Amino acid sequence: MIPVLTIDGPSGVGKGTVANIVASTLNWNLLDSGAIYRAFALAASKRNITIKDTKALLSLASNLNLKFVSDPENKKLSVYLDNVEVSSELRTEKTAELASKFALIGSLRESLLIRQQRFKELPGLVADGRDMGTVVFKDAPFKVFLTANVEERAKRRLKQLQDKGIAGNISHTLDEVKKRDERDASRKHSPLKPAKDALIIDTSNLTINEVVTKVMTLVKV
Ligand code: DC
Repeated sequence: MIPVLTIDGPSGVGKGTVANIVASTLNWNLLDSGAIYRAFALAASKRNITIKDTKALLSLASNLNLKFVSDPENKKLSVYLDNVEVSSELRTEKTAELASKFALIGSLRESLLIRQQRFKELPGLVADGRDMGTVVFKDAPFKVFLTANVEERAKRRLKQLQDKGIAGNISHTLDEVKKRDERDASRKHSPLKPAKDALIIDTSNLTINEVVTKVMTLVKV
């Protein structure tokens, strides 16, 4: 049995950071499912494929030339699309918004499912996203859902962008975060919501280390 820990939650909640630390502490594999949706969105926009062209989108999904190269020493995951590094391009709000729009399409989600499930390898997997505990790894023994109030998440998202040298301001970021959450949570297919058996952690007033400690306690039981 390969253990899986799912970490789901809205944008800017700190899933990526927590998932990274927990995966490297446990020495488990890491799936950043958002990066798959972002890379797909980037690939589609580079090819000028519109959201309505389902046939072209599905063909792209099954032929997507996507590679993740992890550098555990620097806690960094590099993403290569068509053999070109796109890690920074993936992190922009423009790519995030586009990813969230493509993520509405049920048949597309289905065709990206196996690509995500293939990350489940020994000794274990930490999977971060929106539907890891509800759809992609429904049977996972460990499930966490992170939440935080929207103002705090916008602040965290802005800091994350600024740390990467991407400009932004708080009111714009707040709007973007709200819009994306609304779209991710209200969609028909695999909406953002906690799995029934997930441990819900409100991180609004917690440090990253405090969240990591709570998550590690769950896995170690
Ligand atoms: O986690 P992220 O910000 O990198 O995700 C970008 C978008 O991709 C998110 O707004 C919706 C979509 N997404 C999804 O629909 N399902 C996932 N498991 C992960 C991301």
